[in-house]
Amino acid sequence: MSINFMTLPRHILMREKQHPEATGELSALLHDLSLAAKVISLEVNKAGLVDILGFTGTNNVHGEQVKKLDIYAHEMLIKAMDHGGHLCVMASEEEEKIIHIPSRHKVGKYVMLFDPLDGSSNIDANVSIGTIFSIFRRVTPDGTPGTLEDCLQPGTEQVAAGYIIYGSSTMMVYTTGEGVFGFTLDPAFGEFLLSYNNIQIPKKANIYSINEGNYKYWRSGLKKYIKFIQAAYDRDEKPYSARYIGSMVADIHRNLLYGGIFIYPSDKRNPNGKLRLMYECNPMAFIIEAAGGKAIDGKKRILEIQPEKLHQRVPIYIGSADAVDTVAEYLEQDEKAGV
Ligand code: AHG
Ligand code: MN
Ligand code: MN
Repeated sequence: MSINFMTLPRHILMREKQHPEATGELSALLHDLSLAAKVISLEVNKAGLVDILGFTGTNNVHGEQVKKLDIYAHEMLIKAMDHGGHLCVMASEEEEKIIHIPSRHKVGKYVMLFDPLDGSSNIDANVSIGTIFSIFRRVTPDGTPGTLEDCLQPGTEQVAAGYIIYGSSTMMVYTTGEGVFGFTLDPAFGEFLLSYNNIQIPKKANIYSINEGNYKYWRSGLKKYIKFIQAAYDRDEKPYSARYIGSMVADIHRNLLYGGIFIYPSDKRNPNGKLRLMYECNPMAFIIEAAGGKAIDGKKRILEIQPEKLHQRVPIYIGSADAVDTVAEYLEQDEKAGV
């Protein structure tokens, strides 16, 4: 049996040495983030014990207020990241406005946006959930408090992005734009160990992931694309599998490993889809592109969208390159027909 001793901090350090210009700040930031991930992971694993251990009602046995897990994750991330000296501002799906670094702490040159807990409707059913993060370099002057302008940058400007998935095991997947790396948390050591080196998404998809319950509201191009996928058998191709967890992070993680397309479209009810550009779509698009896949809003690259608002929603078609190209052709039919 071979034992893998490539821990997350060692890996980050090793990769940084390949870039002599690096200051080590981004590495330190990712390290702080992995600590927050471990704490959130522990809490997520305890979620099912809440009733049994008497954590019901508004107070737990310590007399503390019981927090919803997504609020807990939100607060834990802020606590872990606000004093490292690496960030100048943060933004979270759970807070309307940008989050400032308290004035008693040093401000750094990076900006972090996050979805503290993605797929939170799945928590009580013991289904995989995750944390998604996106990191930019600030655009305002060093040493000053970060602003909304630092947050509203297009995804192409990300310097790192990743997610932590709390599934059958806890994993952290990250990229700095070159290569995508996956680490599994060893619960015995409490360390993230490299388990997926340089992940590449298969070019061809075998899986499609979309909430088909919304079929009635879809535009005709999308309906035709899904019918095309379902007719693979008629073309002597292997049929696709339909897989939809309802946690974007888990759906995309699976498709990243096995090859697939994940879609949260615009439809007649929601012209901008449901998912958030800054906390969900940008970081996932950065990862999938670094793994050789594609991510579009129906027409153009997700990463090229100039954000206007912090909580902006955007339709997303993301995954294996061939599948994203094909769905784009079907969507173009709607454009041409003006529907
Ligand atoms: P969040 O829990 O952060 O609000 O995100 C939930 C999102 C996403 O994870 C998932 O893909 C999508 O909601 C599922 O939406 P539907 O239930 O409409 O399919
Ligand atoms: Mn989410
Ligand atoms: Mn969320």
